[in-house]
Amino acid sequence: MKAPDSIETARLVLRRPEADDAEAIFNRYASDDEVTTFVAWPTHRSIEYTRLFLAFSEAEWDRWPAGPYLIHAKDEGLLLGGSGLAFETPQRAMTGYVLARDAWGRGYATECMHAMIDVARQCGVHELYALCHTEHAASYRVLEKCGLTRERLLPRHSEFPNLTPGIQSDVYRYELTL
Ligand SMILES: CC(C)(COP(=O)(O)OP(=O)(O)OC[C@H]1O[C@@H](n2cnc3c(N)ncnc32)[C@H](O)[C@@H]1OP(=O)(O)O)[C@@H](O)C(=O)NCCC(=O)NCCS
Repeated sequence: MKAPDSIETARLVLRRPEADDAEAIFNRYASDDEVTTFVAWPTHRSIEYTRLFLAFSEAEWDRWPAGPYLIHAKDEGLLLGGSGLAFETPQRAMTGYVLARDAWGRGYATECMHAMIDVARQCGVHELYALCHTEHAASYRVLEKCGLTRERLLPRHSEFPNLTPGIQSDVYRYELTL
């Protein structure tokens, strides 16, 4: 089943990215060095990177039941960040989240993650997982609050291009069976 293009939670609207979102994504979070320290993609140094992300997003949505979502504030419509589902098989998907600096510490990531779990369930995902740098406690705290469990430590598994370029770091794999 295809996921909805747009989902509302108590305070957020999560929706499929569109071509004219590039500037807002670039300016709000994708070009911010602090925000992108622990993400798996390089900080966007020009808006062309952001346009490549949007092309990737379209391809994901065309191929799979869902793809990236943007997170907006329901009240003022401000772009707060991004999340989504990255499918590996029809039953297995990875999730994650990134928020603009001024949106941290208000429970938005947790609210968004609950919605992603619902979407995954609706789409027939059985195994939802996330990878997290072992020193990024704020991020794995969100996963734990949402019911994902630390399944195992994966030694020297993932590159964090903005933190330690070219080096594979230890990550925790968190998982939820749906
Ligand atoms: C990580 C991130 C998504 C968290 O978003 P958020 O909306 O602030 O998260 P929430 O408010 O829903 O929950 C954060 C939890 O972590 C806790 N926390 C925050 N900083 C912490 C720290 N340094 N150590 C331990 N726990 C921490 C908070 O207290 C809160 O838990 P609580 O509700 O039990 O008090 C946000 O900081 C972010 O976007 N960072 C940049 C991008 C990023 O790193 N993404 C993850 C890549 S794996």
